[in-house]
Amino acid sequence: MGIRIAPSILSADFANLEAELRRIEAADWAHVDVMDNHFVPNLTLGAPVVAALAKVSPLPIDVHLMIADVDRWAVSYARAGAASVTIHAEASAAPVRTARALREAGVRAGIAVRPATPIEPLLDLLPEFDMVLVMTVEPGFGGQSFLDVVLPKVTRTRAAVDASGLDVWVQVDGGVSADTIEQCAQAGADTFVAGSAVYGAADPAAAIEALRKQAAAARP
Ligand code: DX5
Ligand code: ZN
Repeated sequence: MGIRIAPSILSADFANLEAELRRIEAADWAHVDVMDNHFVPNLTLGAPVVAALAKVSPLPIDVHLMIADVDRWAVSYARAGAASVTIHAEASAAPVRTARALREAGVRAGIAVRPATPIEPLLDLLPEFDMVLVMTVEPGFGGQSFLDVVLPKVTRTRAAVDASGLDVWVQVDGGVSADTIEQCAQAGADTFVAGSAVYGAADPAAAIEALRKQAAAARP
């Protein structure tokens, strides 16, 4: 099981995104949060900005769609140049169809769950996905406190992935920092989104390496 660090540019300087992407070159993925002010009470950016980021990003782009009617829009993010597109289970009426369309478009397909959404109804669908994102805050904003009540769900997700024998990544997002990443890794996460913990650090590259070391040492 590899460790992947995916800094969220939600905490970056939106006026200088190309330079902000270069500050996280030491990471594995650039996590891009798309919010529509309907699925979550915040508004960020859409496919044209993802296309512009993809042209200059030194890292593959991991798009996290926090948008209503996601089945309609997901593939446009694949076409924009993302390498991974994650949809929320709560926003999708046809997650299997959308995941297949994403894979058909040549990208990894992820499924995300909010803290109150159980993972169990989705476990039979694991073969359709490349990643499960277990949200460790209520989606919508960076800089929120980590919800440790979600950790048992990370553990159950990891157990189901291991039992399936599939290479499905388990991602955590929200409040992931030096204080919380070890618990996430112990629970079985392998892909770690961190916004404020990376962009709020004086040296983002050092923060990325420190998070990676902590996660690698803590994984089961
Ligand atoms: C929240 C977003 C996160 C956010 C994480 O809805 O999905 O990706 O940027 O920010 P931190 O790491 O500051 O909690
Ligand atoms: Zn996110």
